[in-house]
This record gives sequence, structure tokens and C-alpha cells, in this order.
Amino acid sequence: MTFADQIDKKRMPKHIAIIMDGNGRWAKERGHERSYGHAQGVDVVRKITDASSRLGIQYLTLYAFSTENWNRPQEEVNILMSLIVSAIERETPDLIKNNVRLSTIGDFQRMPADVQERLAKCIRDTSAGTGLTLNLALSYSSRWELVDVVKKIAKQVQQGDIEVDEITESTITDALSTASMPDPDLLIRTGGEVRISNFLLWQLSYAELYFTAEYWPDFNEESLYKAIYDYQSRERRFGKISEQL
Ligand code: IPE
Ligand code: IPE
Ligand code: MG
Repeated sequence: MTFADQIDKKRMPKHIAIIMDGNGRWAKERGHERSYGHAQGVDVVRKITDASSRLGIQYLTLYAFSTENWNRPQEEVNILMSLIVSAIERETPDLIKNNVRLSTIGDFQRMPADVQERLAKCIRDTSAGTGLTLNLALSYSSRWELVDVVKKIAKQVQQGDIEVDEITESTITDALSTASMPDPDLLIRTGGEVRISNFLLWQLSYAELYFTAEYWPDFNEESLYKAIYDYQSRERRFGKISEQL
């Protein structure tokens, strides 16, 4: 029996976040350049987006490029940027067909102009989508985001829009780049590392964490079902005790 048959379609996570890691090691182990792994990784993004869409997942946030990734060799950064542009260009018609809406989080200003334009166009073209929201984290890091949030709230206080004592958790939640989304229920990290790497620190407060040694290019639909199956076996207590649930 496959995991696909075992998951409960009525208890699906609303929001899945994925740290897509292991492209470089996957390629190296096969005697290829790291870029080969990134190209394979794009293919997996398409498959996992499709599968999530069919499963009725509402939000899929993919960590595609971190603030820290700007420190990689320039050649690798360039390859990643051009892969993003070509993938978005190629996939937009299918996204529209599948009712998927694209959104992004991250420091957009730091992206090359052509990448910004391409993404902005795809966001516009898919804005009527009412199915899955595919949220790409690009030039994203949680600390960058939280600095941005603090600045926004400080300005609101400075302008007299709110009092310091009126700041609540929702003031912060509403100022995050994920303001319109529920928090992730499930975080998946591929590639064997057991760390968060500056991803959605606020939003993951109560997410179920799932780590797999599988490199991202090897991750497939069945891997996703397995992660969801594992998620469904957990008891989410949110600080309470079992009997209260
Ligand atoms: C993840 O794979 C993709 C990005 C960070 C853009 P890596 O490129 O980090 O692959 P490994 O971890 O070196 O194998
Ligand atoms: C995390 O992967 C960022 C993305 C998947 C985009 P990294 O490969 O950059 O993470 P670290 O630096 O090894 O933690
Ligand atoms: Mg990595």
C-alpha cells in the first residue's frame, strides 16, 4: 500500500513549507556540476506543486533562495536566477490552468530586474487563481523579515497610528510578508540537515517539523505523501493535554 492511499484527505495541512535542500550534493554524487542539481530541482518543484494542488493544499511555501545564498559564488547565483526566470516563464500557463496563484516573500529589491519583472508578471497573470497559493521565498530570511517588521511598526508608532501598548501578536503577524496566510502546519526539510536556516522563525512556532535525508532532486509525490502521513500521526496539543483536545 502506498502512502497516497493511507493519508486522510479530510485532515490535510492547510499550509506546507519546504526547505528544498540537497541539489548540489545530489549532482556532485553523480559526477555533475551543482547547477545540474538545481535544474533537476526545478522539475521537482513542478511535480510537488502539481501534487499539492491535487491534494487541495491551500498554501505551499518553498524556500528557493535565502538571503545567505547571495554569498554563494557569483556563477551559481547567476544560474539560480536564470533558472527561476525560465521556470516561471515556462510554467505560467500550467499554473493558470491548474488555478494556482503565485506569490513571493523576500527582499524583492535585491533580485535582478529581469527576475523581478518576470515574477511580477506571473503574479499578475495568476492573480485570479483560487486553488493553491504557491508562495516562493526568494532572497528571503526570517531575520531580514523581522527587521522589516520592526521598522514598519516603529513607523506606525512614530506617525501616531498606534500606541506602543497597543502592539500585540497580531500587529506583528499583520506586518509579516506572510500576513495573508495561515502559519505553516508542516515544515519539510530535504537533504539531511536538521536546521531551520533562517526560515519563517515566527511563523513556524507551532509547525510540525519533518526532516528527510532524501536530496531535493530525489523527493517525489510519494515522499510528500509520506511526510503528510507522518504529520497526520502527530498529536498537536498547542500547550494543552491530550484529554483537552
Ligand atoms: C538547495 O540545494 C538549493 C538552494 C539553496 C538554492 P543546495 O544548493 O543547498 O544543495 P546542497 O545543500 O549544497 O547539496
Ligand atoms: C537553505 O539551504 C536555503 C534554501 C533551501 C533556499 P542552504 O543549503 O542554503 O542552507 P544551509 O546554509 O546549509 O543551512
Ligand atoms: Mg544546502
